[in-house]
Amino acid sequence: MRRKLAAGNWKMNGTSAALSELQALADAHNTAGVDVLICPPVPLLHRAAEIVKKSAVTVGGQDCHAAIAGAHTGDSSGEMLKDAGATSVILGHSERRTDHNETDAAVRSKAEAAIVAGLNAIVCLGESLQQRETGVTLEVIGTQLAESVPSDATGDTLVIAYEPIWAIGTGKVPTLEQIGEVHTFLRTQLVARFGGETGSAIRLLYGGSVKPGNAAEIFAVENVDGALVGGASLKAADFSPIIAALDAA
Ligand code: PGA
Repeated sequence: MRRKLAAGNWKMNGTSAALSELQALADAHNTAGVDVLICPPVPLLHRAAEIVKKSAVTVGGQDCHAAIAGAHTGDSSGEMLKDAGATSVILGHSERRTDHNETDAAVRSKAEAAIVAGLNAIVCLGESLQQRETGVTLEVIGTQLAESVPSDATGDTLVIAYEPIWAIGTGKVPTLEQIGEVHTFLRTQLVARFGGETGSAIRLLYGGSVKPGNAAEIFAVENVDGALVGGASLKAADFSPIIAALDAA
């Protein structure tokens, strides 16, 4: 059985004051039946890890460098995130692929480094609106999957997040059929590549405008093992009902 995961990506949002939201989440979810992860901006990571210590919530990073250390101004390594208290790291988010020109190969190197550092790598994939409209979604997703996911991945070290770019931060959500089609495709590809045991153990998250109002129906889709949530993870009052919906699914 795959353990469900509700992951929150705060992106570049939040200063010290936002830690009260994390505290509220930790207080509300100290025995959650699902994994709950919040990925705050790096400057908050260590304090965030201290806050969630006695709860069932964990914290993670939003990116890491492929190297352990070195002359890479502004970057953080997987080892550093782990040392600051992270359990996981989001990699290859579409905003990183766009803003920082991250290629599939770069994402794969980062994922390999994250796994070596002892982090759970959450690799993001997703098509653009133009790709969706021209009918090449599965082809695009298949290539991203083949090229961004390391070969030594397991269900304990890798999570995949399907995030259609056009659904991120827009309030637009694919139909449940469209989500189901991609997730079933991802599962089939993973089983073909990693074999039945590992391919069935890797968790698949959906991300893109997940809100308290649509979470339950998305979580009912086959092969959706949780969500990667942006905007609705910033406030405990919004994220908690999403966690509850996942727990009930
Ligand atoms: P959103 O972001 O929930 O605000 O659409 C999702 C994401 O980018 O992970």
